[in-house]
Amino acid sequence: MKRVGFVGWRGMVGSVLMERMRAENDFARLAEPVFFTTSQVGQPGPDVGQGASPLLDAESLDALREMDAIVTCQGGDYTKSIHPRLRASGWNGYWIDAASSLRMEPDATIILDPVNRPVIDAALDSGKRDFIGGNCTVSLMLMAIGGLFREGLVEWVSAMTYQAASGAGAKNMRELLAQMGALHGSVESLLADPASAILDIDRRVTETLRDPGFPTESFGVPLAGSLIPWIDTQLDNGQSREEWKGQAETNRILGRTDQPIPVDGLCVRVGAMRCHSQGLTIKLNRDIALSEIESLIASANDWVRVVPNDRAVTMRDLSPAAVTGSLHVPVGRLRTMNMGSRYLSAFTVGDQLLWGAAEPLRRMLMILLD
Ligand code: HSE
Repeated sequence: MKRVGFVGWRGMVGSVLMERMRAENDFARLAEPVFFTTSQVGQPGPDVGQGASPLLDAESLDALREMDAIVTCQGGDYTKSIHPRLRASGWNGYWIDAASSLRMEPDATIILDPVNRPVIDAALDSGKRDFIGGNCTVSLMLMAIGGLFREGLVEWVSAMTYQAASGAGAKNMRELLAQMGALHGSVESLLADPASAILDIDRRVTETLRDPGFPTESFGVPLAGSLIPWIDTQLDNGQSREEWKGQAETNRILGRTDQPIPVDGLCVRVGAMRCHSQGLTIKLNRDIALSEIESLIASANDWVRVVPNDRAVTMRDLSPAAVTGSLHVPVGRLRTMNMGSRYLSAFTVGDQLLWGAAEPLRRMLMILLD
């Protein structure tokens, strides 16, 4: 494979992808990385070790058709506009995409190789060419408890999520901080006075949250000092689209759409920056010792980490603050629940921009080069 085209490499997910590829020296393995742009055609592209070449037009089917593989983080609208026309023109290269648009297409494979390498290999063997990154929450859940699925232990999973602002986009991360700043600013003088009454502080914070001038352009409502129990669009069955993805994508990734494992829950946006957390209730299909569960989880891949169910260790290691920027996926709060011996609780945290977005893409590209 010679020419690999990159589209959307300057956005948030694309920038994380570039950082990771530089850190792993991936570009040294590419004969000819080619950078595309939707707005700065002809300007110098990034130097990834072979000098900077002019950026090519991401809307040019002729330029894209020269690529053996295309990696895109440009977003769903770009995919919907370009991919069908590129394929219709006879292009037969590999399309590796962070956007969700193609995930459920019959010819697409959702990529999360530490969990579904056999599914990916079978897709490659059968000539599949579209490889799509999964929903961040689903990917992070499977990185965390993939060992239980692999062992065939899971009857169903309920996931209650605590999703970071980054999942909604870069503008939303900025807005979360603007909201935090506005709240703090509204009570700064009261906070500086140790004698001020907490109910006065709270009253002023509430007024600020409800003020029409509070910055809510991106989220639509306050997130700082609050939460949003709805992510993505509304479906007719009462689920949010994010909740629907739990079962649909989990089973697709595991290659078991014919015998789907039920996955459902509530997806909630909270004021974390870029780590999604999930409280899981897992119904096991047989009795199994907690120590065995822990070792199955811990041995499933190189990134999952079992956190002992201990207060101090949990507070230190099992939070967005501890995990952000890291490829490690800690799982803790593992215990049998009051509902019965086959009901397992778990809590997991993962960086939404790494395993939840960029990492599976670069690893897919490396699989193609092996
Ligand atoms: N839909 C996810 C979220 C991010 O809004 O957090 C993309 O997988």
